[in-house]
Amino acid sequence: MKFALVSFLTLCVSVVTFAQNPMNAGIASTHPPLNSVVARSFEYTIRWGITDENAKFIDTISVIKGEALALDVIIPNILTNASIAISDLSYNWTIPATLTPGADYSLRFIGDNSDTTYPPYFSIKQFGPVH
Ligand SMILES: *[C@@H]1O[C@H](CO)[C@@H](O)[C@H](O)[C@H]1NC(C)=O
Ligand SMILES: *[C@@H]1O[C@H](CO)[C@@H](O)[C@H](O)[C@H]1NC(C)=O
Repeated sequence: MKFALVSFLTLCVSVVTFAQNPMNAGIASTHPPLNSVVARSFEYTIRWGITDENAKFIDTISVIKGEALALDVIIPNILTNASIAISDLSYNWTIPATLTPGADYSLRFIGDNSDTTYPPYFSIKQFGPVH
């Protein structure tokens, strides 16, 4: 009985923590938007807005591919130098010519709060300029 009460209290604390935590990197992705198509070898400007003023840096932007429950990490981190300031609001990414074309790409932003933000899926095509 005592154990059950402790478990219940632990659960309450977890729920409260969850509610206070934004559970994202402190940003909302705006580009690439849903169903956008980008081409290999072209520069694409990734953009976001700020949702949490306390979050200051994006530590990692990964390129991921596939279904939500079975994501493949294609590029662990496209930030070539270091973390970037969230206040930059954009990052220019030259899409590697080596990526396999596909319609199920996304990105994973990991903030300095250790939480993640995912834009919707976008497509990478083989040739041509960005749409
Ligand atoms: C890379 O990071 C170093 C140290 O923070 C900085 O001095 C330099 O300007 C950065 N280079 C680029 C290309 O961002
Ligand atoms: C990113 O690309 C855009 C469009 O080419 C350019 O205006 C901007 O200055 C670039 N930003 C950086 C940080 O290089």
